[in-house]
Amino acid sequence: MASTTHVIVTLALVTLLVACHANAQLTADYYATSCPNLQTIVRSVTQQAVNNESRMGASLLRLFFHDCFVNGCDGSILLDDSTTIQSEKNALPNLNSVRGFEVIDAIKSQVEAACSATVSCADIVALAAREGVFALGGPSWTVLLGRRDSLIANLSGANTDLPSPLSDLPTLVSAFQAKGLNLQDLTALSGAHTIGQARCITFRGRIYNETNINSNFAATRQATCPATAGIGDNNLAPLDVQTSAQPFDNAYYQNLLTQRGLLHSDQVLFSTAGLQTAQVLTYSLSSTNFFRDFTASMVKMGNISPLTGANGEIRRNCRLVN
Ligand code: HEM
Ligand SMILES: *[C@@H]1O[C@H](CO)[C@@H](O)[C@H](O)[C@H]1NC(C)=O
Ligand SMILES: *[C@@H]1O[C@H](CO)[C@@H](O)[C@H](O)[C@H]1NC(C)=O
Ligand SMILES: *[C@@H]1O[C@H](CO)[C@@H](O)[C@H](O)[C@H]1NC(C)=O
Repeated sequence: MASTTHVIVTLALVTLLVACHANAQLTADYYATSCPNLQTIVRSVTQQAVNNESRMGASLLRLFFHDCFVNGCDGSILLDDSTTIQSEKNALPNLNSVRGFEVIDAIKSQVEAACSATVSCADIVALAAREGVFALGGPSWTVLLGRRDSLIANLSGANTDLPSPLSDLPTLVSAFQAKGLNLQDLTALSGAHTIGQARCITFRGRIYNETNINSNFAATRQATCPATAGIGDNNLAPLDVQTSAQPFDNAYYQNLLTQRGLLHSDQVLFSTAGLQTAQVLTYSLSSTNFFRDFTASMVKMGNISPLTGANGEIRRNCRLVN
């Protein structure tokens, strides 16, 4: 009798654990039957957007990062200001900076037409980030799916949890650690700065006041980023000084070796001794190693606190809660 009870209790516990585990896990085939054309749609709309404007591939990648670091990968960054929502779009790291919302809307409307009320905006952001990288010559990877959309935004969380380009290494490490990402993830994911652009206001101090910077590189950047605060703040420069037929490559790490990192937060990866320095060297020599670690860390970043099961919702419009 006691042993029967024991078996039943054990079975119940196991079932409970398996159920919770299943709820919490994202899977590659989540929409395989409910929305079989999802990945084709995301690829084709993203490809068109990148053909129209190549920077969009970078912008979509960054959008995913800025979504995941604030309350997890839950589409919270997509919510517009409303009477109940204080949009993350107005946070300092996002304002006049984060972009790609129209592309997410365009994908969402095609996805809704193909399979209505099925696919979350959070998953669309995850897929669009991969397609943006792929369209710019980078690697592809399997995106795990099944995230649901948040009912809230976290403006103050966006201001505190998104790392500043003025950060030193220990600050970057702790910002990533707070999201379950380690120093290797930080170093591999920073390679995202092989694509896209930054505003003068984010690197002015570095190009005028730092010593571990190549002087020709500093002079080139100074030409379009005046020293005076407030003048030319929004002037853009490529994060990766090297142009290439394959924009998403390992040149970012080669730049760091020659003190051509654009942001302070880039160059710190190769100015303090440590595991990250060895990793920068490895990636500078091998795009295979960079791509392998970058894709693994992207999957890890995509697993930050997703809403699953009965949590959150599938938004109809990515900019509004239902
Ligand atoms: C390590 C900490 C990081 C810091 C401090 C940082 C900071 C920045 C800053 C300041 C910009 C320029 C924004 C502007 O001026 O408008 C930028 C751009 C960008 N970041 Fe990061 N970033 C970090 C990590 C990442 C990660 C992990 C990813 C993605 C995996 C990423 C992807 C990008 C991309 C693709 C751009 C270019 C966006 C565009 O051109 O629209 N960054 N980042
Ligand atoms: C194409 O890119 C430009 C910016 O370069 C943008 O203003 C425009 O909306 C884009 N058009 C489409 C259809 O995506
Ligand atoms: C917003 O983000 C901060 C920092 O991560 C966190 O402490 C806080 O709980 C979040 N607020 C909500 C309502 O999720
Ligand atoms: C450089 O540093 C000096 C001294 O801290 C400061 O006054 C100046 O504003 C800085 N210049 C830039 C462009 O950051």
